Amino acid sequence: MKATARAHTNIALIKYWGKRNEQIILPTNSSLSLTLDGFYTTTTVEFKEELAKDTFYLNDEPVKGEQYSRVAKFLNLIRRTAGNEQLYAEVRSINEVPTAAGFASSASGFAALAAAGTKAAGVDMSNQELSKLTRQGSGSACRSIFGGFAEWRMGNRADGSDSHAVQVAPQDHWDIRVAAVVLNETMKEVSSREGMKRTVDTSPFYSGWIDSIPNDLKEIKAGISVRDFEKVGQIAEANCLKMHATTLGANPPFTYWLDTTMTVMQTVREMRKSGIPAYFTIDAGPNVKVLYLPQYEEKIQQILSDIEGVTDVRLSKVGQGITYL
Ligand code: DP6
Repeated sequence: MKATARAHTNIALIKYWGKRNEQIILPTNSSLSLTLDGFYTTTTVEFKEELAKDTFYLNDEPVKGEQYSRVAKFLNLIRRTAGNEQLYAEVRSINEVPTAAGFASSASGFAALAAAGTKAAGVDMSNQELSKLTRQGSGSACRSIFGGFAEWRMGNRADGSDSHAVQVAPQDHWDIRVAAVVLNETMKEVSSREGMKRTVDTSPFYSGWIDSIPNDLKEIKAGISVRDFEKVGQIAEANCLKMHATTLGANPPFTYWLDTTMTVMQTVREMRKSGIPAYFTIDAGPNVKVLYLPQYEEKIQQILSDIEGVTDVRLSKVGQGITYL
């Protein structure tokens, strides 16, 4: 009744931005991401007879409030799947995800929780089934079940039975790298959950976003399969800019960008002009992730670190899918 699993976070190259069902988390568009080896969560789940409720410790600190409720709610799903609704669990997670670098720990967190929780409950699942379950904790987490490049296929059934991630290319397919640029400025952010909802509900640009996804996905997968860095980078960068454009059309309007966000974006464009291939992407926050190839690592790190307002540059390679420890 006890198991430990590790899952890595992922960065979307084609963004998930909008839900058609908030209850079981069904997206309005398919998305595609790169799993990152440097940033992960390790979680142990133990079901115990003597517990009267679930307990959740993050980095050895007890967690309460909204974060606890999301974990307990997710454990309910596991209990239902296992056919044992009476047994409570102790969950212990250790996060190696730099939240300062703008990585949400929810992707690696829910993927590790799903893997450890189902294993501890004695439920045997394929990775595809596990991805479907994980999706209901946090959408982007369903891609972290797989290493390398993963596509979350939105599916079209109302019950979500065809909405899960698949691996597009394995970890060793391509040594592409990601630099996470940490900024010294912060702001009170609109959560991705709230931001995408407001955008779906109010932004007149949203339909343009949706219309553009099938072609972006088709083209980026073609680029990944032949390891065409320029093609993959261009599509990822343009897709990110489109997602962020939808937020400006929302009511009330919002943006995740700060001054330094734009400075980093401009620096990446200048690097390209000077012959260093690099492209950026940005999630629901001000931090920028830069895609590059290994031979430019030293230069990229130096140029990004020298930008005023940048406090740290964290580098990562392509990561693996979930592992059981
Ligand atoms: C901008 O997966 O955090 O990072 O499903 O509500 O938990 P919920 O949202 P979440 O949204 C991630 C949005 C994004 C793009 C992406 O990762 O695809």
